[in-house]
Amino acid sequence: MVDILRANQQNLKEAGKAIRRGELVAFPTETVYGLGADATNDAAVSAIYKAKGRPSNNPLIVHITTLDQAYSYGEFDDRAKKLAVKYWPGPMSLIVKRSANCPLSHLVSAGGDTVALRMPAHPISRQLLEAANVPVAAPSANISGGISPTLPAHVKQSLGDNIFMLIDGGACLLGVESSVISALPNQNVQILRPGSVDAAELSEFLAQPVDQIQNHKTSDENMISPGLLSRHYAPKSGLRMNVAEPHKNEAYLAFGAHPTSQYSLNLSPTKDLVEAAKNLFAMLHKLDDYCQQHNCTMAAAPIPNTGLGIAINDRLRRASAAK
Ligand code: TXA
Ligand code: MG
Repeated sequence: MVDILRANQQNLKEAGKAIRRGELVAFPTETVYGLGADATNDAAVSAIYKAKGRPSNNPLIVHITTLDQAYSYGEFDDRAKKLAVKYWPGPMSLIVKRSANCPLSHLVSAGGDTVALRMPAHPISRQLLEAANVPVAAPSANISGGISPTLPAHVKQSLGDNIFMLIDGGACLLGVESSVISALPNQNVQILRPGSVDAAELSEFLAQPVDQIQNHKTSDENMISPGLLSRHYAPKSGLRMNVAEPHKNEAYLAFGAHPTSQYSLNLSPTKDLVEAAKNLFAMLHKLDDYCQQHNCTMAAAPIPNTGLGIAINDRLRRASAAK
């Protein structure tokens, strides 16, 4: 079982070396913890798929630290450049065409001709990426289909036996994964996964239409982004969403003032969506554990579908999709 290591200079240097050797290193970003490996190394990238039990048709996000790296791995038109300059470093992943001589493993693209790139803002991610000095492929550090990790303990619990190092960054600041935005030629910019950046804001910034893709299918047929399957953030226990009055035997994920139930956690007593996003996955993990021990199911309060609420509802919808 892997140890949780402090994010000091020595450990980050070792982690960088480990990544260069082809090992798997889990590390914090401002969104969720990532499971990192050298994105130019086929064997290392394939170890990510194996550790997570991830289907091989589901591509990975590649983490970088400079715009020059981005422009050499992908084809950035003016729109894509505008997005990169405004939102990086930050919680946005941009899907672009792979460049002609792209050195990244084809496995990060699941064999396709596009690549998702992200420049994280978290100081520990940046120090790790600099220490590794290679682009780092990193999906969320959870078993495929499980709830994303926002604490090192979540990573240890689900992947602890399969990773080489786990760097501690405490709780992730944002708590929901990056917005996944496609900026491919000859089509509108599309939001494939909602996050902190919303469609209205993007569309105003680009002065052109931006499509919010509703991708909640149950099979991966014709999926634009195969990872965005409906049942994705799957707790072990059942979950009902938009529930104002939970049943007595349901564990409740509340938002604002709430009715009593046998066990409840409150995403935000003051109805603050930023606080709610930050708490979402950690509370889902806790409620899920409780339900597994007490043989019950979960219910989540209605969340306003604006701003970060769109991302929260997206994750709750996937978590509650029928098994
Ligand atoms: O916040 C995040 O994005 C975290 C941190 C670690 O960066 N990463 C993350 O990765 O959430 P993952 O693999 O759990 O989710 C990435 C999503 C998947 O749904 C995947 O299908 C999609 O992005 N994706 C990646 N590359 C793609 C591509 N080339 N085309 C379409 N979708 C892509
Ligand atoms: Mg994930």
